[in-house]
Amino acid sequence: MCGIVGYIGDKNPTEVIMAGLHRLEYRGYDSAGVAVVNDQGLDCVKSLGKLKVMDALLAERPITGALGIGHTRWATHGVPSEDNSHPHFDMDKEIAVVHNGIIENYQALRASLEADGITFRSQTDTETIAHLVRKYYAGDLFKAVQRALQDVEGAYAIGVICKDNPDVMIAARHGSPLIVGMGEDEAFIGSDVPAIMKYTRDVYYIDNGQVCEIKRGQVRIEDLDGNPVTLEMTHVDWDDAAAEKEGFPHFMLKEINQQPEVIRNTLRGRVEEGSDEVRLPEMNISVDELKACQKITIVACGTAWHAGMVGKYLIEKFAKVPVELDLASEYRYRNPIVPPNTIMIPVSQSGETADTLEAIRIAKSLGAKVASIVNAVGSSVARESHGIIYQQAGPEIGVASTKAYTSQVTAFSLFTIWLAESRGVMDKAQAKQMIAHLRAIPDKIQTILDNQDVIKRLAATPKYRDAQSALYLGRSFNFPSALEGALKLKEISYIHAEGYAAGEMKHGPIALVTDELPVVCIATQGDTYEKMVSNIQEIKARDGLVISVATEGDKHILAHSEDIIYIPECYEPYSPILVAVPLQLFSYYVAVNRGCDVDQPRNLAKSVTVE
Ligand code: M6R
Repeated sequence: MCGIVGYIGDKNPTEVIMAGLHRLEYRGYDSAGVAVVNDQGLDCVKSLGKLKVMDALLAERPITGALGIGHTRWATHGVPSEDNSHPHFDMDKEIAVVHNGIIENYQALRASLEADGITFRSQTDTETIAHLVRKYYAGDLFKAVQRALQDVEGAYAIGVICKDNPDVMIAARHGSPLIVGMGEDEAFIGSDVPAIMKYTRDVYYIDNGQVCEIKRGQVRIEDLDGNPVTLEMTHVDWDDAAAEKEGFPHFMLKEINQQPEVIRNTLRGRVEEGSDEVRLPEMNISVDELKACQKITIVACGTAWHAGMVGKYLIEKFAKVPVELDLASEYRYRNPIVPPNTIMIPVSQSGETADTLEAIRIAKSLGAKVASIVNAVGSSVARESHGIIYQQAGPEIGVASTKAYTSQVTAFSLFTIWLAESRGVMDKAQAKQMIAHLRAIPDKIQTILDNQDVIKRLAATPKYRDAQSALYLGRSFNFPSALEGALKLKEISYIHAEGYAAGEMKHGPIALVTDELPVVCIATQGDTYEKMVSNIQEIKARDGLVISVATEGDKHILAHSEDIIYIPECYEPYSPILVAVPLQLFSYYVAVNRGCDVDQPRNLAKSVTVE
């Protein structure tokens, strides 16, 4: 995944572009570049490494011009290098292109262009676009891009500028996200809203197959065949500060601390004050469809899949509908069976995860109704689904998913109540009680956050900070919590961690227990509490370092635990929302104590838009 930004207007384009790229660095950070059109033609600065290297280079050699485009890269074709970083140019350096996506037929295109005498400078798929646009350019950049893209197969969001055209920038989209932002006598392009929201809140979400001719304060949109397209402008009312760290040292910590507000936002508009009714009209599912539903399939990747597992437990327990849970990357290759009246619920923070999107396409082609839980408004998952529950969690910048996870579980909780009531398996009194439990969650999260120093201190102790590996155990609703806790620890601290259903311990993992192994045991009050205590005793008997996550007031567990993290008393089915928070904080502080780059862990990008 990469990030693109472009600007035309009175401001210094390099400054606008770099500000936008910094907001997009979560999308990729192995190299970057900016190109501008000025009196000398196309001027460009590129660098290998994170954007701070670019900042330093631009300070030494500032460039400016009438307009410009920029890119932050996460390599797919061609290793991270200066040559492979964007923008890419045609042979005569008349056209510059930035691109997010993958051109699938680039090898054939490259061979054909090389046969025409074109020399390539990079190993990227993107460079073919620059040469193709040059090939078709006869004075009209818009038409040249339109024509070039007819030769291209694959996914792209591109920005294109030309040395002869200081008053126009072209952008196009197919499969990768792209927005155009409008200001007075200026315009922007970006991979997402935070990239430009310092400057404007008025945006067009560009759709697949659309090409935009962007001038100061103007945009003209057509499809690839030249048919005009009219889009509605969206005014984004996110707080600009939402894209900044707001004084926290890392986005991840900021996002963990946002969770009380995030959960309130996820509930907002769906359960009215004083009402016991859940309303999810944007899901676009009728009560008749809910009644007729035979099967629900949840697909997702990573953390979103863990949220999906909580969703499965909730739906089966309360709404009594069988739920199949699939990793999207497995679903797409395993010939799934989609009986009539199947509802698929994809879950995705970014809404751009390639495997999740493909799973959606397959399920739709087999007749499923697709209603997604998604955070990014206007994302590909949102567009390709029949209905949506927007998480309303705001932009998540830290690579490790935190607030997105808890809001996804909250969204599943809402859906479950709605489904169960619609099918007549939950009465009003129970629905009301469950809504009350949900409403209580934000304050309980706040209590955990207010006491985070305890977790901070634990994470700093050498026995945990310097651990080689760790186990996370949970049962029932908190088995997914164990999986999620382990994923959080491994992705940001690089400590090997495994999540297990505690009942599986004797089937293998207990062999790993030594006096150096931290074992995080989720033993909050609920139906499986006693079973968890037995598991804890087994681990303790083998000298394992038990860290129990327990319910406030539970003294019994003290005797069996090396350390305890208490959370407020909670309705068991919703406990995964609360349990996630201390596990996120523990991972965060361990990673910080180990000197890890928490917001941009090695080898990871925020969303996986290619297979
Ligand atoms: O954007 P999505 O929710 O579709 O992303 C899914 C996973 O890539 C994501 O949750 C990933 O596992 C996170 N890095 C976990 O923190």
